[in-house]
Amino acid sequence: MTLNAKLLEDMKARREKIMAGGGEAKLVARQKKGLWTARERLDSLFQEATFQESGAHARHSCRFFDMDNKDLPGDAVVVGTGYVDGRLVAAISQDFTVAAGSLGKIHARKIVSAMQSAVKLGVPLVAFKDSGGARIQEGVDALSGYGEVFFHNVLLSGVVPQIAVICGPCAGGAAYSPALMDFIIMTKSNAFMFITGPEVIKAVTGKAVTMDEVGSAEMHSSVSGNVHFVAEDENHAIDLVRRLLSYLPSNNSEDPPHRPSNDITLVEDERINEIIPDDSSKPMDVRGIIGCLVDDGDFLEVHANFAGNIIVGFARIEGMVVGIIANQPTVRAGTLDIDSSDKGARFIRTCNAFNIPLVTLVDVPGFMPGIEQERGGIIRHGAKMLFAYASATVPKITVIMRKAYGGSYLAMCSQEMGADVVYAWPTAEIAVMGAEGAINILYNKELKAAENRKEKAAELAAAYRAEFASPYVSAGNGYITDVIDPATTRSTVALSLRKLLSKREVRPPKKHGNIPL
Ligand code: HXC
Repeated sequence: MTLNAKLLEDMKARREKIMAGGGEAKLVARQKKGLWTARERLDSLFQEATFQESGAHARHSCRFFDMDNKDLPGDAVVVGTGYVDGRLVAAISQDFTVAAGSLGKIHARKIVSAMQSAVKLGVPLVAFKDSGGARIQEGVDALSGYGEVFFHNVLLSGVVPQIAVICGPCAGGAAYSPALMDFIIMTKSNAFMFITGPEVIKAVTGKAVTMDEVGSAEMHSSVSGNVHFVAEDENHAIDLVRRLLSYLPSNNSEDPPHRPSNDITLVEDERINEIIPDDSSKPMDVRGIIGCLVDDGDFLEVHANFAGNIIVGFARIEGMVVGIIANQPTVRAGTLDIDSSDKGARFIRTCNAFNIPLVTLVDVPGFMPGIEQERGGIIRHGAKMLFAYASATVPKITVIMRKAYGGSYLAMCSQEMGADVVYAWPTAEIAVMGAEGAINILYNKELKAAENRKEKAAELAAAYRAEFASPYVSAGNGYITDVIDPATTRSTVALSLRKLLSKREVRPPKKHGNIPL
């Protein structure tokens, strides 16, 4: 055997050992649970034979005596780059079969190097999280490693998209890395995420709780709001990553992947008029409206299970990528409350960071009244919506469909808050407050004295709507661009989007604004 052949054989043997991860028994155990391996996840994400690994030969740097002879292939993480739908993406995949995917110094260094290359190349980062947390044997080195990962999550924030896929444990401080990323996808089973788990909670507070209560995808997607998407299984998780990437630019200096259609003309789509209820007090399901506005009815809803009174997500309108923010009157009357303000503001800032135009659909009766809301800080949380819209410099198109009352009218991107164009349907009601509330204040004495109070109130409310809340009042004062036939909404928005693509807006230089957190 020649020297070269020997060296090649040795290289092959080393590679095989690396590819075997934590060994046959561990791989089989995972398969039984329906879990994929770190490498299977990457293979499924990337186009065939495009994955280029780095740091495959990394070794652990444990100081603990027990670890001296332990081999941890790749130090429990696989990193590299590959192509997704023809676009370069950097990825990290923690290998649970090796020391439970725990994070030590070298493991962290590999993650950080992938993050640095994502910035250098200007490409998105996808991170599969499946780890027992800090590698206990590495002590402070592991902690320091987490610190470096968090620092780089923040460095990447707003520069390249970061998507976390939680497909196993993600416990303790480890949960803060996904929390610092743009989107979290979590698989329905086998995954959990928490700062303190059931055992610690029991020891500290005496309260017995289940893993599902503190850390399941179901809980995080609907209660805590930490998780943006729940995946039925790993296949679905990868599909969600691909769909998300299809709306995002590779980095903040690029436009999102618009695919403008050749002919755009003002045409009518009567379906919308059929959805709008005749009675203005009847709630309208805004999902139906969104379905009519976007290409092929294809809408990638973000945070679908959380704060349902506002709906946010990505779509294309005549091929142009948009972020849609819409009040949902069928949930909590479409009011803005603490959670919906957080959800809306976060989405607006994500879109603005990545040059995605905003389309806002308004049907909002106001901020949610109540002691819980006031004590919970609705002023601070609601202000996030104002801050996010006012500071966003991407094209902003607002469509006032029905109610737009008081502060919530401003918080849904009125002209004053920086909307480039504001369209209203003839059904719009734009006023400082709703008709019923207003006439109770203005005509309190008359109403008390009236014999037929109910009819009198209805008569006054109708007059209020016609005189004060009519969209023509706002249009007459120059607060809205035009009153449009709802049937022309899609084409009006499409033409406006096209026109606003060349929008340039310069703001005074500053380090950063101070969003109310
Ligand atoms: C080193 C670890 C480890 C860890 C597990 N292992 N967690 N090794 N550091 N953090 C090892 C086990 O000893 C075992 O080794 C192998 O990985 C598989 O673990 P099992 O427990 O057999 O697997 P399973 O039953 O599936 O349970 C998985 C688990 C559990 C739920 C993740 O292992 C667990 O609770 N681990 C500890 C989690 C934790 O407390 N992490 C530290 C959090 S503190 P062998 O050799 O037997 O195969 C933290 C601070 C970060 O993360 C702060 C950042 C700011």
